[in-house]
Amino acid sequence: MNFQITVEDPLKHSCQALVVGCFEDEVRDPLFTEVDRAMGGCLANLFRQHEFSGKANKIRLFHTLGRIPAERIVLVGLGKRKDLTGERIRQGAGAAMQAMRGSSLKGCTTLLHLVGRGGDEFLQAAVEGAALGGYTFSHYKTKNDDNGGVEEVRVLFPPGVAANAADKVLADAQAVCEAVLFVRDLVAQPGNVATPSYLAEKGVAMSARFGITCRVLEREEMEQNGMEALLAVAKGSRQPPRFIILEYLAAGEKVKPTVLVGKGITFDSGGISLKPRDGMEKMKYDMAGGAAVMGTLMAVAALKLPVNVVGLVPTAENLPGGGAYKPGDVVKSMSGQTIEIVNTDAEGRMVLCDALFYAKRYRPAALIDLATLTGACVVALGSVATGMMGNDEGVKRAIRSAAEKCGERVWELPLWEEYGELMRSDIADLKNAGGSEAGTISAAWFLKSFVGKTRWVHLDIAGTAWMEKDRPYLQKGATGVGVRLLVEYLKGVAKER
Ligand code: BES
Ligand code: MN
Ligand code: ZN
Repeated sequence: MNFQITVEDPLKHSCQALVVGCFEDEVRDPLFTEVDRAMGGCLANLFRQHEFSGKANKIRLFHTLGRIPAERIVLVGLGKRKDLTGERIRQGAGAAMQAMRGSSLKGCTTLLHLVGRGGDEFLQAAVEGAALGGYTFSHYKTKNDDNGGVEEVRVLFPPGVAANAADKVLADAQAVCEAVLFVRDLVAQPGNVATPSYLAEKGVAMSARFGITCRVLEREEMEQNGMEALLAVAKGSRQPPRFIILEYLAAGEKVKPTVLVGKGITFDSGGISLKPRDGMEKMKYDMAGGAAVMGTLMAVAALKLPVNVVGLVPTAENLPGGGAYKPGDVVKSMSGQTIEIVNTDAEGRMVLCDALFYAKRYRPAALIDLATLTGACVVALGSVATGMMGNDEGVKRAIRSAAEKCGERVWELPLWEEYGELMRSDIADLKNAGGSEAGTISAAWFLKSFVGKTRWVHLDIAGTAWMEKDRPYLQKGATGVGVRLLVEYLKGVAKER
């Protein structure tokens, strides 16, 4: 999708469709009123006759029949004036794109960024909503029944409205969205394509394009490092595992990096503790954490943020082949701690524990991991919020405030001492699964045993990385969650210094 800033009077501007925001209550936005007047009061009529309510994300598309140069108006409901936030704009812009796709429109001009007080935050939100809401994954559709959706978006500024920083805000928002869509594409790819080596290749190619240092460890080097927990998971598959290391160091040597770790299970069958067949096909998205880490580095490099960030992606396929690890096995992790396997389906924490331990060599200022780790998190929070746990209030607070800004919600679950008992093993230092109680927390507790004193936050994205139905700027399927959250967090890190 192409974006372009245009300075012109909306009532003199020709386009296929003019996107206009409107509120649910009597408060009218000046731009709405202006367009309504030019349209002979037709917009206000829709309200009066209860044909359009202005409720959030409601869309109404109609022809102007030459009353103004714009061929159509796309009215976007934004809810109550007093509740207006960047997120409302983002969702409205996304919903508008989906409606226009339904009408096979290719181009539009938006005014959404000017609603209410306007400003950089709303401009960013309007661009993000459009770029993300206009996405579909049609790579494997050979019949081309999809019309491609909106390709050209003009961001309109009436003469006299300050657009000073608009170019930079637009370019940055586009760069971040490109990274989110890069992640969605990776996650949407089926397991027979997106293997661990495919992820690694994509990591190498992306890094070359954005000036990131990328190194990929293969089996032999992982063995030399003693990453036996990661290797144990890979044993049941013919696909060799990979350990992807991405380094973007733009803050100088003296600054401790933020290290991001992402779970990269390219397909999770459960292994010998095989999952039920219904819905197993979805487990191709079990690498969404790893993909989000790659996407975050891509975005941060594109924005040239003055930060040091390292991304680690342990990636493997969890299958029940003849060599597979088994319940009852005891595995020695890179940290030296031994793990009794009680469930081979608790494989995510196995690959993560070695990566978290490996991360310590960077002496991280903060260590943040993203993982589609537990079904229990989907039960607890659904697809509305990412589960957050960690050992450091400061990092959690910063993540929370980043979440609020970008609309990728997080909700904290406690990590009280008592939960640690769930992971005690009779024969080894830890067992890898804790049973049916508090599954999200016990998984996090397991990870906690590998981070030591490092400031650490764990984000369980099992519910938020994949949508079962369309949302305004998230189509059914891969969401690319994590990128915008971490970019926002890292902008905060950059500012602190
Ligand atoms: N990848 C799954 C978690 C998952 C489930 C993600 C549903 C997204 C949707 C993970 O590897 C897993 O299987 N976890 C087990 C842990 C259990 C064996 C302790 C789970 O949640 O059942
Ligand atoms: Mn599993
Ligand atoms: Zn898994």
